[in-house]
Amino acid sequence: MSLSIQSWDEANAREISGWNYDAPYDYYNLNPDEIEQNTHYFLNPRNNFYGIFEESREFIGYCSFGEDGQVPGGDYSTPALDIGMGICPNLTGQGRGCYYVAAVLDFAQQTFDPPIMRVTIAAFNQRALQVWYGVGFHTVDNFEHQYQGVPFVILVRENERVSKDYETA
Ligand SMILES: CC(C)(COP(=O)(O)OP(=O)(O)OC[C@H]1O[C@@H](n2cnc3c(N)ncnc32)[C@H](O)[C@@H]1OP(=O)(O)O)[C@@H](O)C(=O)NCCC(=O)NCCS
Repeated sequence: MSLSIQSWDEANAREISGWNYDAPYDYYNLNPDEIEQNTHYFLNPRNNFYGIFEESREFIGYCSFGEDGQVPGGDYSTPALDIGMGICPNLTGQGRGCYYVAAVLDFAQQTFDPPIMRVTIAAFNQRALQVWYGVGFHTVDNFEHQYQGVPFVILVRENERVSKDYETA
C-alpha cells in the first residue's frame, strides 16, 4: 500500500460532509445541511487543502496547511506551519494513524519546508494525540476554544534540519 497527497476535486471535497464519526469523534462531523459552504471552503486555494489517496486513486482523507489548522482562542504568535487532517471514519481506529500522519508530514516538508510544524488537537482526542506524540511532536500550550469552551492542546515539532544545525552550532 502507498499513500499520496495530491490536489483533489469537488467530488472528494463534497464527500467529507457526509462522513460520520462515532462519539466522541462526532465532534468532527460536519453539518450536512452546509455541504455547499463546506465544499466551497475546502476548495478555496487560500485554505491549502489536499486529498490523501491510497494507491494514487482511492480518496481516503484530506489535509490542510495554514490557517485552517488554527482554533479560535489559541496563541499562534510564533510562526509555524499549521496542519489539519482527517481520515475517513471507516479507516480510523485501526492502528494506522502514524502511517497517515507520516505521509502528511513528508508532503508538508517537501512542499513548504517549514522550520516548525504545528497541530492543534482537542484534549479529549487521545487517539490523535497518541499519533502526533508518536511522530515527535510535543505540547507547547493548552487553551479553551474561544466560543465552545472545549479544551485544546497545541503541539509542535521542529524541523530536523534546524535541530541538527542547532546541535552543531
Ligand atoms: C487522528 C487520526 C489521523 C488518527 O488515526 P487513526 O488511524 O484513527 O489512529 P490509530 O488507530 O493508529 O490510533 C492511534 C493510537 O491511539 C490509541 N487509541 C485509540 N483510541 C484511544 C483512546 N480512546 N484513548 C487512548 N488511546 C487511544 C491507539 O491504540 C493507537 O495507539 P498506538 O499508536 O500505541 O497503537 C484519525 O483518527 C482521524 O483522522 N480522525 C478524525 C479527525 C481528527 O481526529 N482530527 C484531529 C486532528 S489530526
